[in-house]
Amino acid sequence: MAQDFTKVGVVGLGTMGAGIAEVLARAGIDVVGVELNDETLARGLGHIRHSTDRAVSRGKLTEADRDALFGRIHAGTELSAVAGCGLVVEAVPERIEDKRAVLAELDALCPSGTIIATNTSSLSITELATGTSRPSRVVGTHWFNPAPVMGLVEIIRTVVTDPAVLADLEALVTKVGKTAVVAGDRAGFIANALLFGYLNNAVRMLEAHYATREDIDAAMRFGCGHPMGPLALLDLIGLDAAYEILDSIYHTSRDHLHAPAPLLKQLVTAGMLGRKTGRGFYTYAAPDSSEIVDAVTSDSVPSSGTGTGTGTGTGAGRSGVPTRPVRTIGVIGTGTMASGIIEVAARSGYDVVLRARGEEKIADVRKKLEWSLDKVVAKGRITLDERAATLARVRATTDLAALADCDLIIEAVVEDLEVKRALFAEIDAVARPGAILATTTSSLPVIECATATSRPQDVVGMHWFNPAQVMRLVEIVPTVLTADDVTATVLEVARAAGKHPVLCADRAGFIVNALLFPYLNDAVKMLEAHYADVEAIDTAMKVGCAHPMGPFELADVVGLDVTLAIVRTLYLEFREPGYAPAPLLEHLVKAGYLGRKTRRGFRVH
Ligand SMILES: NC(=O)c1ccc[n+]([C@@H]2O[C@H](COP(=O)([O-])OP(=O)(O)OC[C@H]3O[C@@H](n4cnc5c(N)ncnc54)[C@H](O)[C@@H]3O)[C@@H](O)[C@H]2O)c1
Repeated sequence: MAQDFTKVGVVGLGTMGAGIAEVLARAGIDVVGVELNDETLARGLGHIRHSTDRAVSRGKLTEADRDALFGRIHAGTELSAVAGCGLVVEAVPERIEDKRAVLAELDALCPSGTIIATNTSSLSITELATGTSRPSRVVGTHWFNPAPVMGLVEIIRTVVTDPAVLADLEALVTKVGKTAVVAGDRAGFIANALLFGYLNNAVRMLEAHYATREDIDAAMRFGCGHPMGPLALLDLIGLDAAYEILDSIYHTSRDHLHAPAPLLKQLVTAGMLGRKTGRGFYTYAAPDSSEIVDAVTSDSVPSSGTGTGTGTGTGAGRSGVPTRPVRTIGVIGTGTMASGIIEVAARSGYDVVLRARGEEKIADVRKKLEWSLDKVVAKGRITLDERAATLARVRATTDLAALADCDLIIEAVVEDLEVKRALFAEIDAVARPGAILATTTSSLPVIECATATSRPQDVVGMHWFNPAQVMRLVEIVPTVLTADDVTATVLEVARAAGKHPVLCADRAGFIVNALLFPYLNDAVKMLEAHYADVEAIDTAMKVGCAHPMGPFELADVVGLDVTLAIVRTLYLEFREPGYAPAPLLEHLVKAGYLGRKTRRGFRVH
């Protein structure tokens, strides 16, 4: 018969234990909490008090319910108090010797039927389980921080786990309002194994001065809809914990992409552990505060001395670097990105010249534009007059020479280097001196476009996100030859168009794709290894990390062919063995399973 847990022990009432105790008590379960001494006990109860008081002040919990919740928590410093519990959750610090000692004591104290669960993030459950006399009843329950908020619990089974134990724990997790995914015993389980490679990659980007911490974080928030950027998230997790988790994952993967970035070690050694100490990648108002006090906005043009600074500036960007005046923007192309950029530019008050290869393509874009603006009018965001004025600002032509009076020309044609280079040479022949030439490429080197012209100092990357009307991010990519005032100007134009520009160097994948696609590829490798299925992996990342989509859902939307092409580009640029495309991804693309567009990718649509 399934076990109904009416009384659960929680050993260690720190960040996680206190949160777990709160969740259990809130669901009507009696909790026996155990701490080391009176001082740590008071601190642990303080965590619960603070968290529940906040829930009351936000109207999410009544005072009476809070008092009842506290009535169900029996806390002390004697481990023997948990002896009568059907389940004991261990949440002491992430040190194998501490965990082993607690589990040995619990094993001696508790009847043989008691289930012992460890909340470890990275240690081997098998090793912990086999150190007791009841390995079939020792499992991992990996909660996410903050436990009262995050919806996921990973239940970790070993080769000896009793299936009935898993069923009981899944039922308990559901009962307390969380989502359970069951996974095998592998370092990092599902969510951390995928998340930490990505986080480490972000630290390496910062370490290489590739982009600022603010821009790296903003890129993932505005480009991928993540609730937090990777560096702010590391500060929340704690850099010491992150170091340990990466180290454990590295020891099983042996992939140096998981070897903790040296900068992490430096920060940990300096005592900069993130929010909890008030300083990590960012500085906070106080220890445990979430208020960042030293954020810098992304205005600074790279001061690497690579720009030629030949601007004929009449204005100044926020960084003080002169900008060139931009009134008329030329857009070359008629695809999804071109249409979106035309709409954004025209709605922001720029005169737009659209250059297409034929009259029917012009008619297509006009239709798309009218249809899209109709939707904006229907939502009450613009008036009919504004719609008419926006359309009136867009001129169309099939003649490239008609772009001669444009101040900024944005190329958004097919992602093919030869096509883009040929086009840049043609633009070079017609654009006026001083005009800025931008490419929207998402994976080709901007410098290749620049060197196809006689004016590489005027060429810059402007990587918009799809749909351009909605997505706030624009990655601005100066090459080693781009003039500073060109970079400053496109930063200003992006801001004037209501976007959040970030600045990065001309490297494959820029910020977002370089962080996102190795992660997607890792998810495919995890699937391929039969560690977890599509549903479990998507659920873990969506519920455990609050991503808007799981990796397979996202790959199906992006297109498996596009995903593979970007992964290949990254692999070729960085020659990282860990970036090699997952064979399963290649096979699916070969089979024609490209995602939503072919109605079959990782899922059938
Ligand atoms: N912090 C996170 O984001 C996170 C997320 C998921 C899992 N985890 C895992 O949860 C576990 C706990 O992490 P945390 O962040 O809550 O750590 P923490 O340091 O905040 O809390 C640990 C608590 O255990 C107490 N303790 C130590 N030894 C004890 C003992 N012998 N008996 C009773 N209490 C004892 C400490 O006084 C402390 O209050 C670790 O295994 C960690 O890897 C952490």
